Amino acid sequence: SPALARDVATLRARIASWRGQGERIALVPTMGALHAGHVSLVREARKHAGRTVMSIFVNPTQFAPSEDLSAYPRTFEADAALFREAGGDLLFAPQPAVMYGEGFATRIEVGGPAAAGLEDRFRPTHFSGVATVVAKLLNQCRPDVAIFGEKDYQQLKVVTRMARDLDVETAIIGAPTIRDPDGLALSSRNVYLSPQERRQAPALHGALDQCAADLRAGEKLDVALDRASARVAAAGFVIDYIEARHAESLARVGALADGPVRLLAAARLGKTRLIDNIAV
Ligand code: PAJ
Repeated sequence: SPALARDVATLRARIASWRGQGERIALVPTMGALHAGHVSLVREARKHAGRTVMSIFVNPTQFAPSEDLSAYPRTFEADAALFREAGGDLLFAPQPAVMYGEGFATRIEVGGPAAAGLEDRFRPTHFSGVATVVAKLLNQCRPDVAIFGEKDYQQLKVVTRMARDLDVETAIIGAPTIRDPDGLALSSRNVYLSPQERRQAPALHGALDQCAADLRAGEKLDVALDRASARVAAAGFVIDYIEARHAESLARVGALADGPVRLLAAARLGKTRLIDNIAV
């Protein structure tokens, strides 16, 4: 069963002993409330390294005051069991005071197209919180690889930019989105959906999927995006954005030819905000 570290010294001692045996190390950063999407990241990690570390830390600095920090699901015992079944080796589960000690005063701000115009418009302090905590986790573990889900596509690109810009040696690796059979992307926040909202929720993926098909069939970008928006709104969502971006840089695109193109969306069903994205 996986070992547990609650502080950085314990984490580093365990990793150092594995390094001494010549093992490669993978890190899977999470906020817990694990589901099959997180488990898939552990499987991906094990392809790249002999030892897999998962961090479970509900990072307060990436939540705005209006967001769900205190309500965020915390299911540590079930998480530990899932991580063990997936073949993970070490859980790192620090308290906030371990991550943000007395006098903590640093924040990493990632700029450029990867950080601009999507989630950041609705969650302006979110990615600096993510970039800062991920930089800390990478320094604490110094893994060979770190695995991030494409589910949070802009986050993957922001973290990749940060790691490149700060000369982080860890390779940042993206892994595909795991979905329920009806298309809804798995998310720890799906537990907030009422039964009726849960039935409406797959329409977000359905609309993106149809939009991608329309674009591949030669439809104009603005026409295909308008159709997707209408479909998502008709399913009961309030849309934050549905956009087409360059899949690597996240720069704006005017046509399929400017790509590879990725469609990204965020929309609210009642109080629950869902995000999703898809390759064209
Ligand atoms: P969290 O939301 O717990 O997600 C942890 C990792 O799981 C992220 O890389 C996310 O993209 C991935 N993930 C979530 N749902 C997925 C799905 N359906 N399929 C595949 N991967 C999925 O993202 C965070 O935590 C935090 O921002 C973190 C990076 C840990 C920094 O605090």
